[in-house]
Amino acid sequence: MLEELPFVSVPLKAAERARKALSDAGALAPAPARRAAERLLVPVLDADNAVDILSNIGVFANTGIGRFVIREAEKRIPYDLIGEIAIVRDCGEEEANEVLKRHKKVRTVYCTSGIDGPFRTPELTLLAGPDVPVTLVRESGFDMEVDVKNAYYSPRLATERERVTALMADCESALDMFCGVGPFSLHMARNGCDVFAVDINEVAVLLARRNAKNNDLDERITTIVGDSHNAVPALARRGMKVDRIVMNHPTGALEFLDDALGVIDQGTIHLYLMVAQESAQIIDEAMNTILFERNFQISKHKVRSVSPAVDQMCYDIVLS
Ligand SMILES: C[S@@+](CC[C@H](N)C(=O)[O-])C[C@H]1O[C@@H](n2cnc3c(N)ncnc32)[C@H](O)[C@@H]1O
Repeated sequence: MLEELPFVSVPLKAAERARKALSDAGALAPAPARRAAERLLVPVLDADNAVDILSNIGVFANTGIGRFVIREAEKRIPYDLIGEIAIVRDCGEEEANEVLKRHKKVRTVYCTSGIDGPFRTPELTLLAGPDVPVTLVRESGFDMEVDVKNAYYSPRLATERERVTALMADCESALDMFCGVGPFSLHMARNGCDVFAVDINEVAVLLARRNAKNNDLDERITTIVGDSHNAVPALARRGMKVDRIVMNHPTGALEFLDDALGVIDQGTIHLYLMVAQESAQIIDEAMNTILFERNFQISKHKVRSVSPAVDQMCYDIVLS
């Protein structure tokens, strides 16, 4: 049976490594890859996720959608793999047990009904395996402890974290305004930045602190539990200035831009937002209004599509 599937295209010389990494992560679609000139087109369950997995092993892939022959015996079960935990959508116990059978690394399968609430944590129902939401993930050479029930973490931004870090050759101090379990903070600290990492969720900050220590970066990362509306102005009152700010709170970051401006004179803010295509212009105007008194340039790019009408965008705001 022919079906349209997302694929990643990788150079032939990296094909074996790429296929193994995607297979270990449970990201392959049940259809054979095919060759196109000097590249292999590998059908996957989720192209963005596959690109992130490959970038972690140094393989840079293009993406596309193509028609592939589906192996009928294997039903497609899309899921996110976070350490030893698989998170599925709209599935029952039968599919969960199938995931356990197909992927030796997975010990627990949860079903999510979406991310919600101030901590941006998912509503999870246990489908298979022990109800243990804590697991270790490896991202870009970091070992991170995450708790999929009680603190936000997504492997989907790994490529974006690499991009932001690559821009930071001259960074001295940074603020991670919504740090979660600390992935952006770890990247910035490894690059030589002193980082203030703030989050309102105590569990997330506990894990961010532990992750900083376990990756020998605790001397560079200061963690703060608090609401950034209060914690960041408090840092400003102490005269703190940074040259980078990461604002990864895609449903609320814009409301905090004013607070961020209090701790940065010159430098760059990386602000992430979910943007409905029909509201893109309104967001641009709101940003221009908030930044009115500053010298600034904004460049923006799409991080990923969240749905046909909504994109996750990153705004790089350079203040001079
Ligand atoms: C989308 S997550 C991003 C986490 C992390 N930066 C990452 O990339 O994995 C957003 C985070 O913002 C935190 N948050 C929400 N409201 C906040 C506030 N008012 N002040 C500080 N943190 C907040 C949530 O607890 C959550 O961890």
